[in-house]
Amino acid sequence: MSEQVTFDDLLHEEREFAPSKEFAEQAIVSDDSLYKQSEKDPLAFWEKEARELEWFAPWKEVMEWTPPHVKWFTNGRINLSHNCLDRHLKTWRRNKAAIIWEGENNEIKTFTYQQLHTDVCKFANAMKSLGVTKGTRVAIYMAMVPEAAIAMLACARIGAIHSVVFGGFSPESLSDRINDAQAELLITSDGGWRRGNIVPLKNEADKALENTPSIKNVVIVKRPHGEPFPCRVKDGRDHWYHRLMEEASADCPATELDSEDPLYTLYTSGTTGKPKGIVHTTGGYSVGTYATTKYVFDLKDEDIYWCTADVGWVTGHSYIVYGPLQCGATVLMYEGAPNYPENDRFWEIIERHRVSVFYTAPTAIRAFMKWGHQLPAKHDLSSLRLLGSVGEPINPEAWMWYHKHIGGGNCPIVDTWWQTETGSIMITTLPGYGKAKPGYAGVPFPGIQATILDEDGNEVESGSGLLAVTHPWPSMLRTIWGDDERFVNTYFSKWNKKIYFPGDGAKRDEKGNFMILGRVDDVLNVSGHRIGTMEVESALVDHHLVAEAAVVGRKHDLKGQAVVAFVTLKARATMSDAIKDELKKHVATKIGAIARPEEIIFAADLPKTRSGKIMRRLLRDIADGNALGDTTTLADPSVVEMVREQYEEKYGD
Ligand code: WTA
Repeated sequence: MSEQVTFDDLLHEEREFAPSKEFAEQAIVSDDSLYKQSEKDPLAFWEKEARELEWFAPWKEVMEWTPPHVKWFTNGRINLSHNCLDRHLKTWRRNKAAIIWEGENNEIKTFTYQQLHTDVCKFANAMKSLGVTKGTRVAIYMAMVPEAAIAMLACARIGAIHSVVFGGFSPESLSDRINDAQAELLITSDGGWRRGNIVPLKNEADKALENTPSIKNVVIVKRPHGEPFPCRVKDGRDHWYHRLMEEASADCPATELDSEDPLYTLYTSGTTGKPKGIVHTTGGYSVGTYATTKYVFDLKDEDIYWCTADVGWVTGHSYIVYGPLQCGATVLMYEGAPNYPENDRFWEIIERHRVSVFYTAPTAIRAFMKWGHQLPAKHDLSSLRLLGSVGEPINPEAWMWYHKHIGGGNCPIVDTWWQTETGSIMITTLPGYGKAKPGYAGVPFPGIQATILDEDGNEVESGSGLLAVTHPWPSMLRTIWGDDERFVNTYFSKWNKKIYFPGDGAKRDEKGNFMILGRVDDVLNVSGHRIGTMEVESALVDHHLVAEAAVVGRKHDLKGQAVVAFVTLKARATMSDAIKDELKKHVATKIGAIARPEEIIFAADLPKTRSGKIMRRLLRDIADGNALGDTTTLADPSVVEMVREQYEEKYGD
């Protein structure tokens, strides 16, 4: 696989892919009328979308803006679980499959909208019996099982605020998130299947629960395959999900929530050691995820839609659960790994279920490329009609491979740029109208106003700059849980309080297509997952032998970026491979396996500027192999001094 594409090459990207005539003819959007309408009056566009949902009481103002804070659909009363479920029960969709779930061991379970509604109502009542009410925070630490979606929808039904924590995070990451949100209930499962092994979620959660005084109750879902995985059940505190469900009534009308009542928090990495609890509210998030799912994925009732994300990330929230279910779609949900039992598992799933819309991440596409196009070729993928990409920039090679070998050369690809904070897709092409250009995400979604600015806030006409969103949108984060000041400082202080700063660099072509160049802050994107360098640094210095640590990203063929850590040991420690391994393990234990450094480089001293700042640019160059060739020499103090001097000459202080 050739990965040698530089951004200069990308700038000369001339290939354009318009949707086929057949696709455009059946597409929800096949001309520029939505763009035109929304440009003229963005608020009217969002209002029109909002009217397609059911409201218990209408809104007064579409938007109320006191920069940087905003409210959407003020005083409107709505419930997202109602719009995902009850709204469809009055139609033929009552008996339509809402979720088709496939377990790693091939079990298949289907929930119609009616069945999903029943389980969500029962579980909402079960939670009420455990004291959960509107505003209670509920942590969810689960694998990709339907009960994760049921738990989320049940929280939304009664106005409890869920905080889903990715099942691959460590007990310490879980307890940090529980404590920050002061969650009272934890929902987990005994285990989850991943690549043929059981991930012992409850046992991991037990370690977290030693330090989470706010938790009053724990619900454990028994994974419905084979023998239950042994786990401790603490009397009075821990409850089996299936027992609660046996006793619960299926009658639970959705709570009429205010538009601005919090819906959920989701923690994401930033530039400090402490993850941020991004807060989304009910009305605006519902409208944003509904409209984007409908138009970007061009969803039809016949579609089988599959998003391969995990519910632990925002993509799982917006585009496995809330967006597609509001659209009345049939969502495929898969529990396990793409390479289990063989590397063609995804293609087998597409063939088995006749998946028509497929949404995945570039890191997965690059892994599939490595495994070879012969694997998808063994399967009938002719049911596919639309492909999507999310999470990181997709390199043109991967784009072309995806287009040819998965899409058979005739499926549009939507490359969707957005973030945990934005709640829904912000930049993309609309598949029945836009011309896709490999490497370019496309243009702002109707109703979204984005541009590129320089550090001083001037529009960048050509060349690269900083991506900026100049007007609020309905599914925008409202604050950071418990830290509004950090919200203002992180997102609305770069230019002025009206302009949102996403932290990404970008460029535009002459037609206004945006190319996203990646993060401009100290956040890494490893396999599409955000990891704060400071988080990994704090995990490293927490080890008793580490004096100082600096973490940077290195370009990686499959992961996009890999974590590289420069570490100075305390005087009493001797540098060795055994310590390197121990430190990698330590990070995985503290944060989770996704943050595990790919490489540890020992340094006698970390190269710092005269003003004491770590020279990250130098470290990135070293990690990428552009400077210093042999990095072991950093362990020699005189070398550190020498590179510092050379770099200061080149780049200044
Ligand atoms: C990156 C995931 C380029 C970007 C939905 C952003 C992308 C961060 C794309 C958000 C894309 C996401 N092209 N870069 N299509 N999609 N990103 O919060 O750097 O996990 O800021 O949300 O991923 O990651 P998050």
